[in-house]
Amino acid sequence: MSFSRFLDDAQGRVEAVLAAALPTDCSPSRELSDAMRYSVLGGGKRIRATLIYATAETVNCELTTVDPAAAAVEIIHGYSLIHDDLPSMDDDDLRRGKPSCHVAFDEATAILAGDALQSLAFELLAHPHEQLTAEQRCAMVTTMATAIGVQGMAAGQAIDVAASALGLDITGLERMHRLKTGALIQACCRLTAIAGGAGAAALTALDNYSAQLGLCFQICDDILDVTASTDQLGKPNGSDDARQMPTYVTLLGLDGARQAAEHCSQKALEALTEFGPEADTLRELVRFQLERAH
Ligand code: IPE
Ligand code: IPE
Ligand code: MG
Ligand code: MG
Ligand code: MG
Repeated sequence: MSFSRFLDDAQGRVEAVLAAALPTDCSPSRELSDAMRYSVLGGGKRIRATLIYATAETVNCELTTVDPAAAAVEIIHGYSLIHDDLPSMDDDDLRRGKPSCHVAFDEATAILAGDALQSLAFELLAHPHEQLTAEQRCAMVTTMATAIGVQGMAAGQAIDVAASALGLDITGLERMHRLKTGALIQACCRLTAIAGGAGAAALTALDNYSAQLGLCFQICDDILDVTASTDQLGKPNGSDDARQMPTYVTLLGLDGARQAAEHCSQKALEALTEFGPEADTLRELVRFQLERAH
């Protein structure tokens, strides 16, 4: 199957799981459930869900086994974007080509939608599943919690918020990127390895792969903030510059940032050497994300 077909299928698949998992207008607060659906459905590249399905292919795990994890990761990502756009964070009014959640609704609803999305993601991971034991689901919950909390994404965002005033050197910037974006991307592989019962060697290889992919992903996001238009991105370009954020582009220049992204993608590919063709989609995902236009 071609990579673009795999991507289309993964996007369609997770969209259906998400549509079924998100609350409808029958829930106690219509406003809250509308904001959750508005922010998560019908947008985004679904790279994280695609990474989960591609990893499932690599570790020989059925896609139905990881459907809840794929939806949970996209829901957590959706929550992180709602909060990331808030006036007290990046103060961005546009997301996925639409007004950001706090603009379409209001700030309080956006904060609560993020909160409720986070809870929903954990509910999905913990929910009984005929192909997953209780121990596996517990390990998946712990993996997600670690990835997005004070050791992961939230810490990265806290460093980000402080960075424009304090500045960062390249080591600090790499650390921030690994936390704010890399940790959730790494969790995609870990969750799938747990669901698929992968052995220790495969888990280590996937961990190394996804750590490089996650860093590369945020370096490319920094580059696109400068090189792509608001129309292409569906979010405001120049957002980092407006906040005087240290990025790979401000620290290394555009060419230096591109070289850093290329270096990470090479390392991501090297991490997969122990796998055969079962990891080809993971390999193509590296190239796809490096060459993406938004
Ligand atoms: C944007 O992520 C935020 C980052 C962590 C860099 P994506 O580029 O995956 O955003 P969507 O999901 O496609 O909108
Ligand atoms: C977002 O990083 C990271 C998280 C949401 C955790 P950015 O602030 O660079 O993402 P965009 O550019 O707004 O999508
Ligand atoms: Mg941000
Ligand atoms: Mg932002
Ligand atoms: Mg950005």
